[in-house]
Amino acid sequence: MRASVTPEDDRPVIAVANRLPLHRGEDGWELAPGGLVTALRPVMAAHPGAWVGWDGGTKGMPTTLPDSRVSLLPIALSAAQVRDYYRGFANATMWPLLHNAIEKPRFERSWWNAYQEVNRVFADRAQAAADEHPDAITWVHDYHLMMVPQLIRNQRPEAPIGFFLHVPWPSPDIYARLPWREQILWGLLGADVVAFHTDDYRYNFLRSCVRQLADSGLEVRGSGVVLPDGRTVTTATAPISIDAGEFASFAAEPEVKDGIAALEDQFAGRVLLLGADRLDYTKGIIERLLAVEMLLERDPEMRTSVAFLQLAVPSRDDVREYRQLRGIVEQHVGRINGRFTQPGSDVPVHYLYRGLSPQQLAAYYAAADVLLVTPLIDGMNLVCKEYVTVQQAAGGSGALVLSEFTGAAVELPQAVLCNPFDVEGLSYRIEQAIALKPDARRKALAAMAEQVRVHDVHAWVSGQLTLIAARGAAAAGNRR
Ligand code: ADP
Ligand code: G6P
Repeated sequence: MRASVTPEDDRPVIAVANRLPLHRGEDGWELAPGGLVTALRPVMAAHPGAWVGWDGGTKGMPTTLPDSRVSLLPIALSAAQVRDYYRGFANATMWPLLHNAIEKPRFERSWWNAYQEVNRVFADRAQAAADEHPDAITWVHDYHLMMVPQLIRNQRPEAPIGFFLHVPWPSPDIYARLPWREQILWGLLGADVVAFHTDDYRYNFLRSCVRQLADSGLEVRGSGVVLPDGRTVTTATAPISIDAGEFASFAAEPEVKDGIAALEDQFAGRVLLLGADRLDYTKGIIERLLAVEMLLERDPEMRTSVAFLQLAVPSRDDVREYRQLRGIVEQHVGRINGRFTQPGSDVPVHYLYRGLSPQQLAAYYAAADVLLVTPLIDGMNLVCKEYVTVQQAAGGSGALVLSEFTGAAVELPQAVLCNPFDVEGLSYRIEQAIALKPDARRKALAAMAEQVRVHDVHAWVSGQLTLIAARGAAAAGNRR
């Protein structure tokens, strides 16, 4: 389901991302979790080329992405590299730093050294892939690989290179805490295009460039950064999305319909509130649980008329902050159920700690009356886009409670917007969503689903590849 077709649609793409889109699950090779893979997988399936990524420590990765012309080029990391580059610098330094330092970023020189080393490995592998596809666009993704654009640029001055950041860029004040702040910026500025989900993140990036690099002679002109050597790097705002056609089609699949019927049966007579996230401290899961607890405290009738179901995908559980979060979430679930389960009645809070297939997830989306998306900060958030798409396709009238600190809130203002830091306020927002009249729910849902349908991931990728190709050609032309 393409929104538009451009000359770039069949150009080879070398995607460079920390993760390959497959990992080995209990039933064999499955899609890896997280928004990056959700967004990129259908897009890459439409292009020839290659995907360079870490093999996640599993051997025997398929050599191509199923149903595609994309070679999977696995990178094996040593145990020390996984510890220092992935768990350390990527997930305990850059992830919290870029998410407004809501957990304290940890700064370790040995992690930084490993980050540079692994970025070199990815850059070399991407260049070997580009040798096979001389016309390819190289498209680098996310906070794990911010040195890669410049490493490739050093070797291939004329290559079209794009970079997309899937997470926020914080205010220049927060970014400035990073001991290696200049190096990371120079790394990114090796690209022709550096793109973000929202204007706010893009402006923050431009302000960081000025604050950290102005002494070098670099200048910001409009949305471009003019480097001391005269090359211009374009910045762009390009909110990522989902394959809306694919998600909508799930609603009609027999397996999904059976799943919906089973859930409707299980939660008959209750309003079903749903949360679905990677178990991550950015997602506001604790605030959500506390808000549900307040609701049950305030209104005893809700203890039997409402159920809250939290789906949590295990994530980064060998990073300290994530392990601790799991323990805290499970304590809260236990306490709330201990306090509010009525004799002879089902528990008010249900908690599943596991990954699900997109079809299983779609059944939960279709069955839920209200989706709670309450991150303290989230670059975009695709779960809410999936929810409105499936609800609309299934003929539902679900309501969305959406944190104003997500990239998605810019695009979906018809949601019941909330500030998850204000837990009491959040509990009233949930109440408000439950009480919305069917007409108001349907109107909001239709508008949100339409926004996602029109601005789907195919439109996003066409726009990004066209821009990278154009800016790359212009920069190469200027050098000649
Ligand atoms: P992030 O990229 O931070 O994980 P997003 O909301 O952008 O957040 O993307 C999360 C992705 O994970 C979505 O595509 C969603 O379908 C998927 N997901 C959410 N919950 C589960 C689950 N329990 N099992 C498998 N995938 C899930
Ligand atoms: C977010 C990040 C992705 C990452 C995903 C899953 O979506 O932006 O880059 O792949 O989380 O996290 P993991 O650490 O398991 O790759």
